Amino acid sequence: MRLATPFHSAMLALVLLPLAACQKPAPAVTEITPPATVSETPAMSTHDANSYAEPEKVVVTHLALDLAVNFNKKVLAGTATLDLDWKDKTAAALVLDSRDLNIAGIEGGDGTTWQGLKYELAPRDAILGSKLSIAMPGALAKVRITYSSVPEASGLQWLTPAMTLGKKTPFMFSQSEAIHARSWVPLQDTPGVRFTYEAHITTPKNVMAVMSADNDPKAPRDGDYSFTMPQAIPSYLMAIAAGDLVFRPINERAGVWAEPAMADKAAKEFEDTGKMIDTAEQLYGPYRWGRYDILVLPPSFPFGGMENPRLTFATPTVIVGDKSLVSLIAHELAHSWSGNLVTNSSWKDIWLNEGFTTYVQDRIVESLYGVEASDMEKVIARHGLAEEMKDIKPDDQLLALAPLTGRDPDEALTSVAYIKGQWFLTFLEDRYGRAVFDPFLRKWFDDHAFTSTDSAEFERFLDAELVAKNPGKATAAELHAWLHEPGIPAFASAASSKRFDAVDEARGHWLAGHAAATDLDTAKWTTQEWVHFIEGMPETLSVAQIQSLNDAFHFTGSANGEIAQRWYPLTIRSGDLSARPAIAAFLARIGRRKLIMPTYGELAKTSDGLAFARAVFAKARPGLHPITIVSVEAALADKPPAKP
Ligand code: BES
Ligand code: ZN
Repeated sequence: MRLATPFHSAMLALVLLPLAACQKPAPAVTEITPPATVSETPAMSTHDANSYAEPEKVVVTHLALDLAVNFNKKVLAGTATLDLDWKDKTAAALVLDSRDLNIAGIEGGDGTTWQGLKYELAPRDAILGSKLSIAMPGALAKVRITYSSVPEASGLQWLTPAMTLGKKTPFMFSQSEAIHARSWVPLQDTPGVRFTYEAHITTPKNVMAVMSADNDPKAPRDGDYSFTMPQAIPSYLMAIAAGDLVFRPINERAGVWAEPAMADKAAKEFEDTGKMIDTAEQLYGPYRWGRYDILVLPPSFPFGGMENPRLTFATPTVIVGDKSLVSLIAHELAHSWSGNLVTNSSWKDIWLNEGFTTYVQDRIVESLYGVEASDMEKVIARHGLAEEMKDIKPDDQLLALAPLTGRDPDEALTSVAYIKGQWFLTFLEDRYGRAVFDPFLRKWFDDHAFTSTDSAEFERFLDAELVAKNPGKATAAELHAWLHEPGIPAFASAASSKRFDAVDEARGHWLAGHAAATDLDTAKWTTQEWVHFIEGMPETLSVAQIQSLNDAFHFTGSANGEIAQRWYPLTIRSGDLSARPAIAAFLARIGRRKLIMPTYGELAKTSDGLAFARAVFAKARPGLHPITIVSVEAALADKPPAKP
């Protein structure tokens, strides 16, 4: 990508930038000898390998954004003003993260008077983006950066009206985790730094803007919006969306934002959200973020959900009409404790976010929907982990990972963090009992609230607060196996589900030819039972078997993505081509990576399938999110000769 942004590869040249026309001319700045900070500092063990920031020297404590949402140009443009807390007052530069930003000018000052500052934007690193080094003539309290994003910004998606439900209004949304905030705000893009923020956002008049902040359900829709986020958050929780959004309350502190055609359906599907918050509070203490709202995004959203504080972003693919997939909301809500309140300080320890959250999610599901629902989800999750683990190298099967130096945290994230992490906490719960383990986990959240932490700190806390106080329950070797050894420890207890036993029996009867598909007792099955039914099928079926299942259950064309994502690969492996039109429609409509990647992966295994997948992707691409595009391109890249 060619950028208009000036950059000089020569280390010595800091660029004297032109000031934005509307600002007072700044006094000339004296030439600054490049400080040691401009050169590469050796990686320290506490350093976040996925950020150029130097929090040991300075931390950003507050961010003020003033941005215009420009749908015609597909850019955000304006200023970001950062408040700085200098740990090293002699530091000669402020180093920020950025990716593909056009920087128009940088000033420093005390908030009243400003002076132009020199800066250097390093060449773009494929993973980290461009290191932005701003020369500091002293420990300035603030810097103000005038900039714009590019239409291809990795953390933003811009949708034309045609790509929305209502077809009249454009839509845009951000996805900052893991390291995409830097593509729309220049900042210290590391979860190790927390800051508060405020924002002034302008949009076309008929467009509503919302952020991971204090959204006012009654705010007039006038194209001029102000937000504050008084709790300190890491950069990956910065979020914005704008479109034809309306609000529906769920209860006094929870509600749904969605396009008008989706709003009532979404509010109904998510009507248990209030009860979920109550349940989580009983277990882990007060919800500390004010409101909890859910924004339903278009189906191109690359994830199931994203725990943006006060405003979870969610895929519409979980709105299936029977609440069978609302554990996604339990998950994102759970992050209000595990993640948003207590955060991994770098991405190698993401199990502290996702593993803890999957554990808390399951506790909410069990409390609201019963132990059978929780059991089914555990069996499905662990089956998925076992499958995924076959392709994960041993070093990546640990919970406490090595620093992700040279790696993209998006691609390094696997079910190990989620499901092995959850399994470990379930192991601790079993050994110590809920009477001991629940208060322990609550204390972890309370003692580390609004901080960023790592696996070493968790181990210290675990030893001091659980193991030492309750001797004889778990050995050091067992804990070591969970945290520092690959695979699932042999002593881990398996999950089982009574309802799945009945599914296994039904599938067995049908496979043995003892029952026709239409005779199976499936009337009360929920999504999870259908998922288990399909997952337990042999690697391939005959085309006749595929067709008899489809005649009975209409899997092809299912609106339920959890079913579709498992059914389509089975049809492909079985050599049944009749699902192809439905597959093409599914891959064109949905951008949630977890749902579409198994089908792309299966297609890519044969040359004919690969050709079909490439043709489908070429059509779907303009409607896909940059994060999804990267994943699909990797799956469809040229590989050693595929099977004919
Ligand atoms: N925080 C994650 C999404 C994420 C993780 C985005 C890492 C980028 C990098 C979110 O909470 C999540 O885990 N979403 C899941 C849903 C969940 C029910 C497992 C998803 O999107 O599938
Ligand atoms: Zn999560």
